[in-house]
Amino acid sequence: MEENKEITPQATVEVIEFGPLRISGNFTLKDLRRDSEVSPGEVWLCRCGKSQTKPYCDESHKK
Ligand code: FES
Repeated sequence: MEENKEITPQATVEVIEFGPLRISGNFTLKDLRRDSEVSPGEVWLCRCGKSQTKPYCDESHKK
C-alpha cells in the first residue's frame, strides 16, 4: 500500500512569459556538452534559442 506523503519541493521552476526559465532552490545543473556540473542556487535558462551563452539567458530574447 502506498503512503500519502507530502512532498517538499527542492527547487522551483518559473516560466517567464516570452523569456527564460528561472530555476531556484536546491538543484544541480549538469551541462553534458561542457562536461560541467554546478549547483548555483538560481539560474535563468534560455528558451528562445537566441542566447550566445546557452544554456543561460543573456537577455537576447528582449531584442
Ligand atoms: S530566453 Fe533569454 S536569451 Fe533566450
